[in-house]
Amino acid sequence: MIKPLKKAVLPVAGLGTRFLPATKAMPKEMLPVVDKPLIQYAIDEARAAGIEEFCLVTGRGKDSLIDYFDIAYELQATLKERGKISALEALAPSSMEPGSFVAVRQQEPLGLGHAIWCARSFIGEDPFAILLPDDIVKSEKSCVAQLVEAYNQTGGNVVAVTEVPREQTNRYGILDVGVDDGKLVEVKGLVEKPKPEDAPSNLSIIGRYVLTADVMKHLSKLERGAGNEVQLTDAMAKTIGHVPFHGLRYEGTRYDCGDKAGFLEAQIAFSIERPDLGDAVKEFLKKYTA
Ligand code: UTP
Repeated sequence: MIKPLKKAVLPVAGLGTRFLPATKAMPKEMLPVVDKPLIQYAIDEARAAGIEEFCLVTGRGKDSLIDYFDIAYELQATLKERGKISALEALAPSSMEPGSFVAVRQQEPLGLGHAIWCARSFIGEDPFAILLPDDIVKSEKSCVAQLVEAYNQTGGNVVAVTEVPREQTNRYGILDVGVDDGKLVEVKGLVEKPKPEDAPSNLSIIGRYVLTADVMKHLSKLERGAGNEVQLTDAMAKTIGHVPFHGLRYEGTRYDCGDKAGFLEAQIAFSIERPDLGDAVKEFLKKYTA
């Protein structure tokens, strides 16, 4: 039987070195795209997939992420008193059902695999989604909802994949591809950050996963991989042959907001569509590209 997917883990314990000094005293995941922090995009996407329970894997200096999901009594009371209804409404998505949100600590950033292992009590035996908040996916249907739809058909692990330029395979987890129907791809193998000449394909995993708890027993060995980090990709690779494993070519556009250029592109992509900002943004673009 395929268990329904209700849980999501959001690892946010990385150091965010590419955004220093901005991330010296604030988490990367609180950086806004237009007026919404990266973490909120991920929560919205997960909720749109029917996910009801959230676990943040945090680290030192990340407490503002937990405060963000609290009730801001004074602020809300002041906004109400002043009749600032739209500002009050903007706060609504950052409120959480009591008991639906937990945070665990990754004391040292030993890698994404280690971060997920830190959430083992939350995960238990259940399937779970992982969303890396520095990837934003702009799509009609939530990217995680697309993964859940595939998972409900195939069971097992389903990861979101996209083609990357061959010379960039050394930045990503790359698939060794089996049967491929153009949308759903059977995963025969996985390699973390292979050199272009060693890469089995140019199909890369983005920061969206639906996994069964089988991966946890491999993570619990805490074996180090590429970059001397505990790699999620290595643990997932060990489940191949034991649980169904598919890559889904999702519909939508991914913005890698962990990277400065990707972050700036996201600002444009999201602001240009806004009724309150679109015209101004188009004018700026004309001015600076003339
Ligand atoms: P990144 O590879 O983007 O690393 O992590 P980073 O530390 O966030 O950023 P840079 O490269 O130094 O600029 C991908 C995701 O995995 C999480 C990060 O928070 C991010 O969401 N992560 C990574 C952890 O939670 N723990 C880790 O040990 C490593």
